[in-house]
Amino acid sequence: MLEVRGIAKRYGETVALAEASIAFRAGTIHTILGENGSGKSTLVKLLSGIVRPDEGAILLDGKPFAGGGPAAFQAAGFATVFQEVLVAPDRSVTDNILLGLDGLLSRTVPRGERRSRAEAVLKRFAVTGIALDQAAGQLPLAAQQLVVLARAVVRNPRILILDEVTAALDFADREAVFSLMRQLAGQGCLILFITHRMDEVMTLSDRISILRGGRVVATQERGAATAAELLKAMAPQTAAELAHG
Ligand SMILES: Nc1ncnc2c1ncn2[C@@H]1O[C@H](COP(=O)(O)OP(=O)(O)OP(=O)(O)O)[C@@H](O)[C@H]1O
Ligand SMILES: [Mg+2]
Repeated sequence: MLEVRGIAKRYGETVALAEASIAFRAGTIHTILGENGSGKSTLVKLLSGIVRPDEGAILLDGKPFAGGGPAAFQAAGFATVFQEVLVAPDRSVTDNILLGLDGLLSRTVPRGERRSRAEAVLKRFAVTGIALDQAAGQLPLAAQQLVVLARAVVRNPRILILDEVTAALDFADREAVFSLMRQLAGQGCLILFITHRMDEVMTLSDRISILRGGRVVATQERGAATAAELLKAMAPQTAAELAHG
């Protein structure tokens, strides 16, 4: 459904991505695993129209996708939850969630339906109760994370990109988000799940790509490698240190 081919992105001297090629299938949870600074968020930003590649191409449904800015990616069915949690702090939770839609629909959701619409989306995965009328900026970080996730889900994306979204969540909310991810994948959505937590990788992923120093060192089915083998591909030095106590 989606492919990145030979993507390169440099920031001055820093090579954030080099010759990165990955093919993604509809209806899968595809994990991107990599250490800090390995290029994960750069890939996320490339697939959201925030940054443009220096080289390489994005293919959507087998055809070159010119992209453009974030609006073009959103119109093509991409929705991204970025690593940095960004709510509109002074606006209500309801407004924040429906911001996901407002840009898409020419007419916004009728006033009388806004609250229930937002609530219905949150209920799909948030275990923690969140007051819909509260200013989003006053919520704890974990609740803000759920609001930003709801903003992406309300769009019914074809491709949902989640950059380290579970970091701030407690156990119950995290499990609920995982179950939503499985449900969406079951409906044909492609989910790009970015993480560096090995436990999440092993339980959740259908396929796994490993980034190291901006290069894709492996893409494989879950079960094709053990956690120890994945760690070795992701961070050979750490793996060696662990192995030798
Ligand atoms: N705007 C930028 N300007 C300069 N360098 C950048 C910029 N964004 C990323 N980089 C550099 O590019 C490399 C890849 O960064 P990226 O954010 O993609 O890594 P990451 O895998 O998401 O890391 P983390 O696990 O810490 O989120 C890093 O060396 C980073 O310092
Ligand atoms: Mg990152």
